[in-house]
Amino acid sequence: MLYSEKVMDHFTNPRNVGEIADANGIGEVGNAKCGDIMRIYLKIQDNIVKDAKFKTFGCGSAIASSSMATELIIGKSVEDAWELSNKAVAEALDGLPPVKMHCSVLAEEAIHKAINDYREKAGLELWDFKETD
Ligand code: FES
Ligand code: FES
Repeated sequence: MLYSEKVMDHFTNPRNVGEIADANGIGEVGNAKCGDIMRIYLKIQDNIVKDAKFKTFGCGSAIASSSMATELIIGKSVEDAWELSNKAVAEALDGLPPVKMHCSVLAEEAIHKAINDYREKAGLELWDFKETD
């Protein structure tokens, strides 16, 4: 089986799909290689990620990665959410096939962009990260 049970579960029954009407951090990334797009909405209060939702136009691994990533950051401090790596997302999904690792990178980058969007709106300095594409 190419995909783990967790990937299949998060693909067929994704958590936290949708938008947050009063989100105070939104991040969108596209993958130049495959054309897939992921948008992450964050509601941050008192430096805690109170809610996270996503919209992903992409493959099953990108949807499963978004679903898992939002679950992993809800309730975390902004600093801890920032530290979430694509490897941690893939590990939480019990692995992704090597050709699908870039799908989890989308989740990490969309979260980084959403947090920086929040920081910009809050008048805070932006944190550094490199986009892969
Ligand atoms: Fe086929 Fe993303 S490249 S769905
Ligand atoms: Fe492009 Fe999954 S194939 S995000």
